[in-house]
Order: sequence, then structure tokens, then C-alpha cells
Amino acid sequence: MPAPDPKSQRPQRIAVLPGDGIGRDVTAEAVRVLEAAAERWSLPLELVHLPYGADHYLATGVTLPPGQMDEFRDRFAAILIGAYGDPRIPDMRHAADILLGIRFQLDLYVNFRPCKLYDARLCPLKDRSERDVDFVIFRENTEGAYVGMGGNFKKGTADEVALQEEVHTHKGVDRIVRAAFEWARANGRRKVLMADKSNVMRYGHDLWQRVFAEVAGEYRDLESSHLFVDALCMQMIKAPQQFDVIVTNNMFGDIVTDLGAALQGGLGVAASANRHPGRVSMYEPVHGSAPKYAGTGRANPMGAILSAALMLEDLGHLEAAREVEAVVAAAIRAGETTVDLGGSLTTAEVGARITRAVASGAAVAG
Ligand code: NAD
Ligand code: IPM
Ligand code: MN
Repeated sequence: MPAPDPKSQRPQRIAVLPGDGIGRDVTAEAVRVLEAAAERWSLPLELVHLPYGADHYLATGVTLPPGQMDEFRDRFAAILIGAYGDPRIPDMRHAADILLGIRFQLDLYVNFRPCKLYDARLCPLKDRSERDVDFVIFRENTEGAYVGMGGNFKKGTADEVALQEEVHTHKGVDRIVRAAFEWARANGRRKVLMADKSNVMRYGHDLWQRVFAEVAGEYRDLESSHLFVDALCMQMIKAPQQFDVIVTNNMFGDIVTDLGAALQGGLGVAASANRHPGRVSMYEPVHGSAPKYAGTGRANPMGAILSAALMLEDLGHLEAAREVEAVVAAAIRAGETTVDLGGSLTTAEVGARITRAVASGAAVAG
């Protein structure tokens, strides 16, 4: 689907897939917030609720029906996802088809994961202010260790051999690195850092080195630098204020974004957008399905709500997007949170307060 025009009142169809575990709890709240935003700003959103997830797969044997990916591509403006993962499906077959399927088959090569501290009290590091933790991670989302290439030989025996390949292509590295530089330039950020393990991965990660140097040469107005990923982890803890934009491969991006989430106060508040500029994109919190919390009211819906705000932004509804983020930030500062952020509210109570504030334009009650 071409880039949507917010001014036309053509409905923007959003596929909503809550998925499994707390994915369902947090998505219900994100949906309430979106409905309030649609009402307040007269947004032409049409939410289409889809049941695909562990329960549906176990009941029907179907992860996603045939043709669903084409439907997403041709008939939707965006996809909003909760989380996938269920202990009854240990090989994550359904998540591979749905979550990774959407990322790969829709070619959503930019996994955009902001790391922003909304309240200094939430940072596990001592003496850090909100200004110290405010960067974005560009995670490559269609290649690397996630391609599922490999195999077993003599499986289940003491002689077993397992191979798991990484794939890095010039095109794939070039486009994610370029996306990171472009975003930095468009958003007034000065520094782009690439992290790899090219001291050991002499083929794939060496390609990252060479492509990064090439692309950086086209953005001389910005500062480019490099850290090996182990050193990056150390620096994220030691001096997070040094980062603006970090770009890295799929697996390292997965790992460092959980670390980044911890700097923000935890996985409950971390948001993401899976983008292919100009095409239908997918939005989801960084966290998983945390099965032990499902249905208990402990899940923080803010990561899901902030992901919905990223979706509003991409759909052209900038004012709504900014307001939703501001309301979440205000709720955090007012201590109107679930227990993971030190509050005492349930998932639905947090969602209801944010929804009310978005609907009325008033700040969240303290
Ligand atoms: P997880 O993110 O589900 O949970 C890890 C811990 O983080 C939880 O025990 C909890 O303490 C905290 N947490 C996560 N989300 C929270 C929230 N919204 N509010 C409050 N606390 C929250 O990771 P896991 O336990 O490693 O994985 C559980 C399942 O989820 C697995 O099946 C895994 O594969 C899957 N998973 C899915 C996604 C996804 O769908 N994008 C992401 C990560 C993990
Ligand atoms: C994430 C998750 C997924 C990933 C899993 C559930 C496949 O951890 O979105 O961060 O590894 O990408
Ligand atoms: Mn992850």
C-alpha cells in the first residue's frame, strides 16, 4: 500500500494482532487509546481485529491463513502486534510464521527501537537524568542470524553437529545503515555509531565495516563511529549520554535493545516500529508474552501504547502521536504506573487513565 495521505478521509485499515500472553492484555489498552485518539482528532482509523496466535494455531493448525501476507501488503495501512510466545509451542512455530513472517515477507528492514528515559527515577544507573538516556537503535530486521539457515547432522546423538548461518548482504547492510544516517539527519541528531563483532566475524561483520565506511562518507555532516558490541554494552551502562543513533545487525539489535529497555525503566515501557519506508509497517512493544503475568493485571501497557504512537506518527497523525507520548510520559512522572515502574495500578487502570487523558486533552491526574 502506498504511503497513506492523512488528509484524505480514506479509512486507514489497521490489522490488530494481540497474539499471546500479556500481548493480549497490553494490546487491549493500546486499542482503547487509539480509539480515543481517533475520536478526538477525527482520524480515519479502522481497526480490524485478527485472532492469529497460539490458541488459534493449537485449535486449527493454522498460524496465518494463506494469502494473509498479501492482504497485509495490499489492504492495510499498518499492523499492530502484542507479543508472541507460548509454552505449549516450544519451537515458536507460530511466532516464526507470524512475527518473523511479517518482518521478513513484508521486508520491514528497519527495526526502530527508541531508548528514552521518561523519569530519572526509573533508571537503574545512579545519578542519571532524562537527558542522559535518549537514543535510538536501528536494528537490521531481515537478515543476520534470523534467516533460519542451517541444519543438524546426526541429530540426537553424541556426535551431533549443528550449523546455524548468518546472512549479511551488501544491499541489506547498506539500507539499514542509510536509514540510520537519514533519521539522524532528519531528527537533529549528530552521531551514528555502528556496532558489530568484526574482529571475530571476518566475513559478515567485515562487510558491515566496509559498507558503514562507504555510507558514512556520504554523511560528512554527521559524526560516525564504531564499537565492538561487547564494548557497546559496557558503554551503554557507563556513559549512555554519548549515544544518538546506534545501528547494528539483527541479533545484536535484539540483545542491546533489551539492555536499552532496562535503562528506560524496563521492558514494559520499550516501544518499536518495524518499517519499510513507504510500505505497510508493523508496530509492537519490545517485550515478549511474559506468560506468567498474562491476565494478572501486572503487564505494563505503556510499551504497546508508545508503539501505537509510533504508528500514528507514520500514518501522518503527528499531533495525536505527540500527545499520546506526552500523556504516557506524564503518567510515568505522576507515578500512575503498573508495579514494574513502582506504581500500584493494574494494566487496565493504566490504560484507562491514559485513554481518559488522551480523550479529554487533560494531563493524567497525579
Ligand atoms: P518477556 O519480555 O516476555 O518477559 C521478561 C520479563 O520482563 C518478564 O518476566 C517481566 O518481568 C518483564 N516484562 C516484560 N514485559 C513486561 C510488561 N509489559 N510489563 C511488566 N513487565 C514486563 O521475555 P521472556 O520471558 O524471555 O519471553 C517470554 C516469551 O515471549 C517467550 O516465548 C519469548 O520467545 C517471547 N518473546 C516474544 C517477543 C515478541 O513477541 N516480540 C519478544 C520477546 C520474547
Ligand atoms: C523481539 C523478540 C523476537 C526477536 C523473538 C520473539 C523472535 O525477542 O522482538 O525482540 O528475537 O526478534
Ligand atoms: Mn527481543
